[in-house]
Amino acid sequence: MILALFGPPGSGKGTQAKYLIRSLGIPQLSTGDMLREAIKSGADVGKRAKDFMDRGALVPDDLMIALIGERTSQSDCQKGFLLDGFPRTVQQAEALDRLLTSRGLAMTAVLSFKVDRAELVARLSGRLVCSRCGASYHERAKPTKVEGVCDLCGGSVGKRPDDRPEVVESRLETFMTSTQPVEAYFRQQGRLLEVDALGSEEEVKQRVAAAINGGRAG
Ligand code: AP5
Repeated sequence: MILALFGPPGSGKGTQAKYLIRSLGIPQLSTGDMLREAIKSGADVGKRAKDFMDRGALVPDDLMIALIGERTSQSDCQKGFLLDGFPRTVQQAEALDRLLTSRGLAMTAVLSFKVDRAELVARLSGRLVCSRCGASYHERAKPTKVEGVCDLCGGSVGKRPDDRPEVVESRLETFMTSTQPVEAYFRQQGRLLEVDALGSEEEVKQRVAAAINGGRAG
């Protein structure tokens, strides 16, 4: 099974990805997480990506396509994988199609998360992330039991640098101009499944499961 989660920043892709990988037994390939790891470890990819991420811009396609090409060739991806944050441009979507075709594979479905702008801003402005395991929290909607400490691993929890209000604006703008056209690309292929991503995590989780099981792409 090869799935992709598509949606604007803060639409809940990372949150739902964690549930999905547990139920489907496939790895989560979050390009955002991969880039943040590369920045932390001082890898070349991270050095090239940092300035783009700090500004809320997209990292160049060639770098992202190479990153996904390499990651999907690893052994844990043989039974499938869940893309989270990729593809984000039509060029990336086309490159992904070529890559999958060359391996005799095809995308199963792309789940497109729908959330209005006010809710996106509210979610991102209050988001807290564990620096060790990546678990996601929210200052008001989903606080940690102990302030600043991850419930799951005890790591320290804080804000992501690109969740500053001015960078959020820029990320939302980038989504509208560069990423939104990817939705039409997959709709044309009949692989798009729209999911109402407003409501509680549990409600969204049920809708995601229903979309995958129903599989009525449009
Ligand atoms: P990335 O890390 O992928 O960020 P993003 O797409 O902007 O998505 P987010 O992680 O911000 O949001 P999400 O949808 O995962 O929401 P989450 O579940 O965390 O990318 C970062 C940067 O890397 C990009 O800006 C770009 O520079 C670069 N990059 C990455 N991939 C790239 C690519 N392919 N090409 C080029 N550049 C690339 O939830 C958010 C908050 O909401 C949390 O607090 C959560 O607790 C809360 N929440 C979740 N669900 C609910 C709910 N149902 N109700 C209430 N609150 C909820």
